[in-house]
Amino acid sequence: MGLKRWFLRHAAQMVRQHPRHRRAMMLKLAHSVRVSRNCADIGTELGLDRERRRLARTIGLLHDVARFEQVVRYDSFVDSVSVNHGALGADRLQEVPLVQALAATDRAVLLHAVRHHNAAAAPQDSDPGAAFYLKLVRDADKLDIFRVICMLHRTNNGGEPATEALQLSDAPQVTPAIAAAIRAQRPAPMAAVQTRVDLLLLRLSWVFDLSFAASHQHLARRGHLTQLVGCLPKTQKIEDLVNGLHSYVAKRLIP
Ligand SMILES: [Fe+2]
Repeated sequence: MGLKRWFLRHAAQMVRQHPRHRRAMMLKLAHSVRVSRNCADIGTELGLDRERRRLARTIGLLHDVARFEQVVRYDSFVDSVSVNHGALGADRLQEVPLVQALAATDRAVLLHAVRHHNAAAAPQDSDPGAAFYLKLVRDADKLDIFRVICMLHRTNNGGEPATEALQLSDAPQVTPAIAAAIRAQRPAPMAAVQTRVDLLLLRLSWVFDLSFAASHQHLARRGHLTQLVGCLPKTQKIEDLVNGLHSYVAKRLIP
């Protein structure tokens, strides 16, 4: 599909023009390729035909298209201190002739998925087709973010770069709003994050936002949940929250 080529060319051009951000951009490019593959894998599990799988794969590849512009303009990937990269991505894609040339439904599905892939909660009122692909890319994206965070904790000990941008405390404490969300089996709110432990728990709370059993299976197979839990301090309060997470995932593994 032409859009795959367009995206790879766009990424390569941005990398060439902004060597200072080369490393950050290459990481995003690799992430986009993996999310694209996750979309195809989950899509296969869900029984999508060739054409629908191809659309899913394109959405996965393009979902973070605005990351390149974001890091050049703001020197950051943290939306709260820069720009909403989902909305910016959809706005930019709207201007791309290859996107304009898509069938109207495919175009609407693509733009909807890119625009809302990073929203705290998916919008409720969209049409079923668009809602399906949005769920798919949100799951695929989160699965790769779990992978990336695991790697960051293994290699860099300090966890995510966002801990610096958000000026998080090292105290081994859980902010009450984060604990409350996990007890209620809801994704934790970013605005409440105050400590590194909060941020890690917030990532873990994304299991409540995964839509498909195939995504939970993917997560369980790779062991990322267990690895991330291992990075948390061992306090009774945290153990209780983690037990809740594990039993939720165990139930969801059965389709
Ligand atoms: Fe994103």
